[in-house]
Amino acid sequence: QNLSSTSFSYASPSNIALIKYWGKQGIQIPKNPSISFTLDTCRTTTTLHFEKRDNHKENFEVKVILDGKHKPGFEAKIHQFFSRILQYMPFVKEYKFIVETTNSFPHSSGIASSASGFSAIALCLMEMEREMQPGLTDTYFTQKASFIARLGSGSGCRSLEGPLVVWGEHSEIEGSSDIYGVSYPYEVHENFRDFQDAILLVDQGEKQVSSTVGHNLMHNHPYAESRFNQAHENLAKLIPILKNGDLDSFIHIVESEALTLHAMMLTSSPYFILMKSNTLKIIEKIWEYRRETGIPLCFTLDAGANVHVLFPKNYKNEVQDFIKSSLSEYCQNNRYIFDSVGTGAIKL
Ligand code: PMV
Repeated sequence: QNLSSTSFSYASPSNIALIKYWGKQGIQIPKNPSISFTLDTCRTTTTLHFEKRDNHKENFEVKVILDGKHKPGFEAKIHQFFSRILQYMPFVKEYKFIVETTNSFPHSSGIASSASGFSAIALCLMEMEREMQPGLTDTYFTQKASFIARLGSGSGCRSLEGPLVVWGEHSEIEGSSDIYGVSYPYEVHENFRDFQDAILLVDQGEKQVSSTVGHNLMHNHPYAESRFNQAHENLAKLIPILKNGDLDSFIHIVESEALTLHAMMLTSSPYFILMKSNTLKIIEKIWEYRRETGIPLCFTLDAGANVHVLFPKNYKNEVQDFIKSSLSEYCQNNRYIFDSVGTGAIKL
């Protein structure tokens, strides 16, 4: 089938998990449910160019251009992704593709671009599918886009909608699924509206242990089962907290989740540490500042040394001043990014 378009473009956001996904089975099926805030300014913008191929060759044909430069090194990852999605999108064999992509956050800043990147590609591929099958409903479109994004990057399935997305089956969250992310379906208190996320770039280098390796180390991990149960419990506890706006309880769960994620790394075999000494210094400073001012800010971490500082919008000025004056010195090259919770991917 010949399509009238020759490209589609999307800007997809990054996300930060409150309840962490750590451990998977099969092809990107999470061992526990997770929930994340969708970010706003940290985005990947991708244009997917495509052209029909005459013959049906064995291999996929994809060229990756990042920030205007051809990056053959990224192409193997897309090939692997295409082989995973082939049974759901057979047309990827019938086209040759150019993936032209840029990130709003600095390259190699230690902020993972795979979630936002695969979300953007998945949405572009769904646009192709919609052109081939014009009757697709919006729900089908979004669910399948999230399903496809998941096959590229697990947490990528939480990077399509906003402001809160759940991925992984949970008995108390209607519609939750292991195979795609869904918008959090219940009431959220205004305390969490436009929540702020300051990302402190503690270490911008390549991680020593990839998240793929980390997830796999949850197989045969001595604490795995209790951790998976705890994630279910924490998500259940978060439902009334999100509704009633109880910031102290929110902080307690979010910080505990971050520390537990890293505790899983410390107790894996082989064990590893992704935090740096400045990560701990920042955590101590945040606790001290919270004790002294009563301002309800907290930290969370993903699989790296960077610290995400989360706080309500009405404390924006104070907390930004605190970060500039007291935390930026612990960041590599004094770098940090002020972001906030956003509403999801945008078609360009
Ligand atoms: O999507 P992955 O495989 O990069 O794993 C992400 C894992 C964490 O960022 C540590 C937690 C999460 O839920 O995003």
